[in-house]
Amino acid sequence: MIFMENKELVLAPVNPEILSEVVPGNVYYYDITTSTNQEAKLCKNVPDKSVFIAEEQTSGRGRLGRDWVSQRGYGIWMSIYLEPEISAEKISQLTIIAGISVSRAIFGSLIKWPNDVLLDGKKVSGILTEMVSDGKNSNKVIVGIGVNVNTEMFPEELSDKATSLFLHTGNFYDRTELAKNIVAEFFDLYEEFLKDGFSAIKDEYTKKCATLGREVFIISQNEEKIAKAVDISGDGELIIETDAGREIVNSGEVSVRGLLGYN
Ligand code: BTN
Repeated sequence: MIFMENKELVLAPVNPEILSEVVPGNVYYYDITTSTNQEAKLCKNVPDKSVFIAEEQTSGRGRLGRDWVSQRGYGIWMSIYLEPEISAEKISQLTIIAGISVSRAIFGSLIKWPNDVLLDGKKVSGILTEMVSDGKNSNKVIVGIGVNVNTEMFPEELSDKATSLFLHTGNFYDRTELAKNIVAEFFDLYEEFLKDGFSAIKDEYTKKCATLGREVFIISQNEEKIAKAVDISGDGELIIETDAGREIVNSGEVSVRGLLGYN
């Protein structure tokens, strides 16, 4: 991956033309927007497999209703728009595909189930997948990917949980190149997934999943409990073990925290 010492170059805008070389649909580029997920939801006549990308988001959103800090020039803030012919239960697997794509593009990274990409046990990338309902029966899915690329500092409350490629390596990175690598990996994996289902990616995911083998806190609406994360199901769900036996955990329902640190 190309890294640079000159910060002015790093803060140069993403080049949508270069990105479009690996995007089957359109690339929608924004200097500033509320949220690329929001843009992808509102935009009309978007071709399947399009990408929305912004330099800065004013209301970036994360999982479980959290905010996602999306400063100009410091990260990749993008959303992939898809119209997959798959059942609604399989949509969460697209989130896992995005996690693997980011992890393939960031050497040495691991994945905290379901899809936070980690360096040094801290989050370098997060993914928010949303479905769009237009009242008909179509499947429109938006896979929002945020990557902390050149962030030099996080607010104190995030500093033990979040990192960036810059903080990990001491170098600034070319965001166009990294976004292009992620998107290229995503569409490769997506085609495999459409053909062969989750089994096509389960092995790689299981190998990269930092959550497995750990004691975790499972935080759901109704309860909090400690369990051991033991496996990934054939559909990408987390299998946990407590004294009561094994149980399958679905990503839409819970937040998982390691007992020792973030992952
Ligand atoms: C998470 O909580 O881990 C998910 C973070 C997802 C952030 C990305 S940035 C691009 C897209 N637009 C958003 O508002 N959110 C996603």
